Amino acid sequence: MKAVAVTPKKQNSVRLVRIEKPKVSDIKNGRGVLVEVLRAGACGTDREINNGEYGVAPKDFNFLVLGHENFGRVIEIGKNVTELKIGNYVVATVRRPCGNSIYDTIGMQDFTTSDKYFERGISRLHGFMAEYYVEDADFLIKIPPAIAEIAVLLEPLSIIEKGLKQAADIQERLKIWHPKTAAVLGVGNVGLLTVMALRMRGFQVHGFGKQAGSGYLNAKLCESIGATYDSTDDLPLIESTKNYGEYDLVFECTGYSPIIFDAMQTLNENGILILSSVTGGTRKTDQVPSDKINQMFVLGNRAMVGTVNAGREHFEMGVKDLALCEAMHAGWLGQMLTHKVVGLENYEKVFEILNNSTQYKAIKTYFEVGKI
Ligand code: BGC
Repeated sequence: MKAVAVTPKKQNSVRLVRIEKPKVSDIKNGRGVLVEVLRAGACGTDREINNGEYGVAPKDFNFLVLGHENFGRVIEIGKNVTELKIGNYVVATVRRPCGNSIYDTIGMQDFTTSDKYFERGISRLHGFMAEYYVEDADFLIKIPPAIAEIAVLLEPLSIIEKGLKQAADIQERLKIWHPKTAAVLGVGNVGLLTVMALRMRGFQVHGFGKQAGSGYLNAKLCESIGATYDSTDDLPLIESTKNYGEYDLVFECTGYSPIIFDAMQTLNENGILILSSVTGGTRKTDQVPSDKINQMFVLGNRAMVGTVNAGREHFEMGVKDLALCEAMHAGWLGQMLTHKVVGLENYEKVFEILNNSTQYKAIKTYFEVGKI
């Protein structure tokens, strides 16, 4: 079968490969599920892997099949699979409990402390930019047909859901926490999904980006779901609290690490800052009012947490938000699916769009591998 692969750590090595179609019996405990891939999303992580920044091939392979954002249909199941049927739509989680930490042992591999981690399409396991994959049913999330068209957004959304769940868990310290306002920094794919998830929870949401608002689809999407959008060129983040007040929750999705110090200064007392950008560079900043920030966190009981990877419960939370958003704002999520590329053989187009996403005005670029 066809798959899109890279040679990890080698720049721009993306190519089409032919590999053996997997079999249900590859999973030995009778819990194997053969899935026909219908859609595979592409994101900054795939771009960075193809830039040679990270990525690890599976044992005995000199290439890594890319793809962690996925959506497919079950076409065969092992004898011990009771929760899924042939024809069901599914999304697979990404990380597998193959590390040696206690969190892997208890099925919380998204919190692994193991240096070696196993993520499909990223590290040590082949991904989903392929015609088929086989997976243990434990790692598959059933998708209601009503959200099939937009379910390729579930994997990126799961990271946000994990951030919001962690915030809720941390804020249990307060016994009562009734957050009202949130700022979302960056309104690309991840930022827009964050705006959506917070609107579904009833927050007043203020989105911020670099681009001017007028004629900018991402800004329109913020506004049509009841959030504001401001360009930080017109309204610097720190200034924005004069208009909107201090934020109970700030969610960072820009990929630009210096902004986190500004973000810390916009938090309300008892507020929480969630960081989601993976910033593999070497950027440094010394323009930090450290006394002020330290004082704000100490005297104001503020908190900060990172979110990466997601467990089953976060994917399940995401399914509910996608369904609620479709019910409340039909078609809104579909507008995020800006660039469909039909066929894995057209991988060059996908990477061209990923590498020039501003020019292409791309929010989500994805392969259509099969028909829904
Ligand atoms: C994926 C996560 C993964 C992270 C780091 C992200 O793009 O969504 O599942 O843990 O990359 O590899």
